[in-house]
Amino acid sequence: MRRVRRRSWPWERGRAAPVASAGSGGDAAIRMFHVSKSYAAGSFALRDVSLELRKGELAFLTGPSGAGKTTLLRMIFAAERPSEGQILVLGRNVGRLSARAVPALRRRIGVVFQDFKLLPRRTIEENVGLALEVVGTQRRRARAQVFAMLKRVGLQHRRHHHPLSLSGGEQQRVAIARALVNEPEVLLADEPTGNLDPELSLEIMDLLRDVAARGTTVLVASHEQALIERYGSRTLRLQDGRVAEDAPARGRAG
Ligand SMILES: Nc1ncnc2c1ncn2[C@@H]1O[C@H](COP(=O)(O)OP(=O)(O)OP(=O)(O)O)[C@@H](O)[C@H]1O
Ligand SMILES: [Mg+2]
Repeated sequence: MRRVRRRSWPWERGRAAPVASAGSGGDAAIRMFHVSKSYAAGSFALRDVSLELRKGELAFLTGPSGAGKTTLLRMIFAAERPSEGQILVLGRNVGRLSARAVPALRRRIGVVFQDFKLLPRRTIEENVGLALEVVGTQRRRARAQVFAMLKRVGLQHRRHHHPLSLSGGEQQRVAIARALVNEPEVLLADEPTGNLDPELSLEIMDLLRDVAARGTTVLVASHEQALIERYGSRTLRLQDGRVAEDAPARGRAG
């Protein structure tokens, strides 16, 4: 059996949680325990969400607009803190991270947005390389890494172009390259195909599937049901902030 359902986790009961020795979930990349998020008194963006994503797993997060998909992703990369419950990402208790510890966690997480968020005045190469510059990677090594990553998404020949001269699908591939250049252990994508036509959407999804196949945990928020079904990956459906369904993967997509 792929996943074990439990009502609660041993270290979750009582006392301060011994997070570093969280025990049984050794191959878990992300674990949420009874997580709720409230932005305003009395209304919840997420309610009592518990889930676990294994290392290298590809999962979709679906559900109608306002269901809490973006909120859930934002909590994983510590852009929001849970109002209740606990989130473990790569063994770190996100809700308790100090502001100083957040960047180190974020370096292990790549994020892709629907609107790409590329810098228009920088070249493709510079956009992708920025993440390496920030962490002080030596310039020559960074260039090689950027080239290799652009090659992986099939855009090495466009590296000196600017984002706006690329198609939507190409821009999204650049955004994915940028998210991956640091070799993150987790990749989060929020509606990564929302602005793309169906053919380009498939291209992006194939790319994300390959990323997971190489061992990165990939969580993709999308409400494109047909696309999700095609991949047959695990699908978590949110409804009013709750996990209404957790459908396991049903074998490989063709
Ligand atoms: N910063 C915020 N302040 C107040 N309320 C918020 C904030 N962000 C989200 N919400 C509310 O939380 C709920 C969940 O929003 P969220 O953006 O997570 O939904 P979503 O599933 O990503 O929707 P969509 O498919 O439209 O992107 C919504 O009711 C939204 O209005
Ligand atoms: Mg959203």
